Amino acid sequence: MLNFTLHTPTRIVFGKGELARAGEIVKEFGSKALIVTGKSSTKRTGVLDRTIQSLVNAGVDYITFDRVEPNPRAETVDEAARVAREENCDVVIGLGGGSSMDAAKAIATVALSGHPIHEYIRGNKTGLWKERLPIMDALPIITIPTLAATGSEANGGAVITNWETKEKAGINGPALFPKVAILDPELTYTVPSHYTADGAVDMFTHLYEGYVTGDEHANVQDEITEALMRNAVQFAKTAIDHPTNYESRAHLLWTSTLALVGLTNAGRGGSYPVHAMEHTLSAYYDISHGRGLAILVPAYFRLVVLKDRPHRLARLGRNVFHVTQADDTEAAKATIEALIRWFQEIGTYDTLKNIGIKKEDLLPMAQETVRVGGLGQGTLASTHPLSVDEVLAIYEAVYE
Ligand code: NZQ
Ligand code: ZN
Repeated sequence: MLNFTLHTPTRIVFGKGELARAGEIVKEFGSKALIVTGKSSTKRTGVLDRTIQSLVNAGVDYITFDRVEPNPRAETVDEAARVAREENCDVVIGLGGGSSMDAAKAIATVALSGHPIHEYIRGNKTGLWKERLPIMDALPIITIPTLAATGSEANGGAVITNWETKEKAGINGPALFPKVAILDPELTYTVPSHYTADGAVDMFTHLYEGYVTGDEHANVQDEITEALMRNAVQFAKTAIDHPTNYESRAHLLWTSTLALVGLTNAGRGGSYPVHAMEHTLSAYYDISHGRGLAILVPAYFRLVVLKDRPHRLARLGRNVFHVTQADDTEAAKATIEALIRWFQEIGTYDTLKNIGIKKEDLLPMAQETVRVGGLGQGTLASTHPLSVDEVLAIYEAVYE
């Protein structure tokens, strides 16, 4: 096992009805909150009103910024940060999916520093991210997820898109860890089946990427990862079939949080090549993050992991999908087939062409993936460093 430091400072408040405690919790950290949320879902479901009511009951002043788009954009973050400064907000609430929570983290940063957020985006052309990251100061952040997917609720990262330059990548730092995450699974009852499925694929990807690319001597982490993957697979299906089944939603939400809180990759390391490849897709085409991941993984497994580390894919299949083949390569192939069957079952099996991506963009996107995701190394970290040609081959393999 590799040496590691694991610091997960976010207090987690989990359970039915816990949203009602938002006001009393926020009051510990500030007196005027900026509520950062998306354009429609939290209004439609009444969750925004319930959050506001809780703040009012606790005597916390607030204003609402309700213009966060899926795949949140740098200009939106900068605009909201201006509002936070003008209104003297001293605490930021991220209410919604990963996009609202990520935007809240970025806004909490810019509201203090005054630097535009694009300067922080890892791998951006200006190179300023090398000075700006890690982020050490930000307003206190409270997260209230309404969708089980990203794990943003309890980690120190966020993903922001600079739409003009088509750069989508992470920002990170100790100041981005939320002070408190309020995980109320009932808030996810209204998530439509396609986003429930995309979210399950996202958490599953956070789990397998470190598992197949990281150090192979971290059995505790591997077994925790396998257990979380089994839960993602099982409860995605039951949550889709029974959207208001509390246990399904609770297990999915808790799995998504644990999948990216740092626990599984501590002592194992690893890289996120499929995430880097997807982030370019959603930077160019504004697609759902989880759907992009689902499209890419069969080709990534076939073209890269099956060759480099078939035994890891075999282990994944045996412990998550009941694969029984004794030979590792055969078991690895069966794992890929089992994964595709799961995607078909939950409705995420798709192609790049089908979601509107143009063939002529594959090469520029492969180049961008290696440039932004490769942080100037000229290759993308994986089980071996991937070249532009190898990334392009993956995009082409899932094109149609
Ligand atoms: O936009 P609104 O009106 O809020 O509606 C959202 C959005 O349309 C809707 N939604 C959310 N909760 C709902 C709901 N609809 C009905 N009922 C509810 N309870 O769902 C749609 C998708 O929301 P979004 O926040 O965009 O999805 P997700 O949670 O998948 O977040 C995706 C973003 O997170 C980034 C992704 O790249 C993407 O930008 N990621 C963040 C990570 C992190 N911070 O650690 C890691 C991830 O790998 C990921 O990259
Ligand atoms: Zn993800």
